[in-house]
Amino acid sequence: MQRTTRISPAEIDRQLAFCGQAAQLNSQLPVRPLAFVDTYGCQQNEADSERIRGFLSRMGYGFTDDEEQARVIVINTCAIRDHAEQKVLGNVGALVHGKRRHPEQIICLCGCMVQQPRTAEKIRQSYRHVDLVFGPQVLWRFPEFLYTLLTQRGRIFQTADEPGSIAEGIPAVRRDRVKAWVSVMYGCNNFCSYCIVPYVRGRERSRRPEDILAEAEALVGEGYRDLTLLGQNVNSYGRDLEEGLDFSGLLERINAIPGDFLIRFMTSHPKDATPRLFETMARCEKVAPVLHLPFQAGSDRILREMNRRHTRQEYLDKVAALRALIPDIVLTSDIIVGFPGETEAEFEQTLDLLERVRFDALFTFIYSPRPGTPAAQMPDPMPREEKMKNFNRLVELQNRISAEKHAAYVGKTLRCLVDGLSGEEGFPLSARTPGNRLIRVKGGQELIGRFVDVKVTGANTWSLFGELS
Ligand code: SAH
Ligand code: SF4
Ligand code: F3S
Repeated sequence: MQRTTRISPAEIDRQLAFCGQAAQLNSQLPVRPLAFVDTYGCQQNEADSERIRGFLSRMGYGFTDDEEQARVIVINTCAIRDHAEQKVLGNVGALVHGKRRHPEQIICLCGCMVQQPRTAEKIRQSYRHVDLVFGPQVLWRFPEFLYTLLTQRGRIFQTADEPGSIAEGIPAVRRDRVKAWVSVMYGCNNFCSYCIVPYVRGRERSRRPEDILAEAEALVGEGYRDLTLLGQNVNSYGRDLEEGLDFSGLLERINAIPGDFLIRFMTSHPKDATPRLFETMARCEKVAPVLHLPFQAGSDRILREMNRRHTRQEYLDKVAALRALIPDIVLTSDIIVGFPGETEAEFEQTLDLLERVRFDALFTFIYSPRPGTPAAQMPDPMPREEKMKNFNRLVELQNRISAEKHAAYVGKTLRCLVDGLSGEEGFPLSARTPGNRLIRVKGGQELIGRFVDVKVTGANTWSLFGELS
């Protein structure tokens, strides 16, 4: 077992002191300077961006979504698929014009994409208007980097390969007032053969239970109603801790916090989703009846090539065990179409698995080779058009299943959490069913942040519609 490096409170205080110094510089400007934080990728990145905003706020920045107005631009990037990278590079490239007009602008790139040496090098050579590049493992040093750039000329690159650490006590400016992210662990040890995450996010490391509980309690106290616990594989929480607390134990302790709120979590790896987890979910009344359990592919050979370390049958058995305990569990999954060497017959097994499990919703992706991963070296003979055809078949099948599952809600009354505005005339509120399905509801803004009983009156593939009952 590898011991987790923890950043000392003195180090964080030092970073907060840089915030104070930057705030002093910024207070001398004629108007309050603004920052723009743009986030790509998954919820972990969203959570990281909330901390970047927390630091920026302490440095005296207000926020804008308009690049032209921003003195500091932070782009928090994702490397999961080539498409995500190309989008970021396009947007970063376009920033060069704004910077010509506003030479005082500081452009920062962080997140998973820049942790890859080839990308960091590309930015160094070809994107010379980028001032600061730092990887996810050193996010806690952002104040120091930015303060240096405010006081000295030059560029900063901090993307050395590190196993990663845990830093507590970083302030956060959260985007939402009803739902909050709570990271419980960082990094990944699984090395699925297609995936870049373990290379850019470092090794698995767990936050201490007392730190997580303190954060959860504070959020509930502030009125948050929906806490989503985050980690690449939350089921392996605690393996690096001395406390002997596993993820189920953590769920139980968060469930014991007094208050009216829901607990969700993601992501769960099927190989580590145990009967103990299912039994804990069933018993803890605040744990929402929803599980995101990615299966990636329906064929055993492909699962093996992916290094997922579970079989199709094991997956089906786990789903059956979970449904026996929580019959109305909402199940979602991730699927990759067109993994190198996947044949038509193997793809059919993915469709078959969909029919057997009948997921409520799916996140579907076409395989994208990630340089440096084992799968990127594997022969990949299937032409892209064929993969697209399979992808479309998969989406079509899932849309039919989702529509059928949603139609079955009509007439039911559910306790839903109103989380915002839907932007849809007639059903102005956006809410979530206990299993996190989107439901658009008739009602007034004063209900935002409240649990209300909603009668489902309509449904389509993507969402439900309802009125207060
Ligand atoms: N830790 C999570 C997944 C994080 S990445 C888990 O193991 O479930 C989110 C999803 O992106 C993955 O589940 C996978 O379906 C998809 N993905 C990851 N790498 C990919 C790649 N190279 N090409 C296409 N999809 C990929
Ligand atoms: Fe990637 Fe696999 Fe880790 Fe998920 S479990 S982040 S898919 S390596
Ligand atoms: Fe992307 Fe990094 Fe998340 S690669 S999906 S932002 S962990």
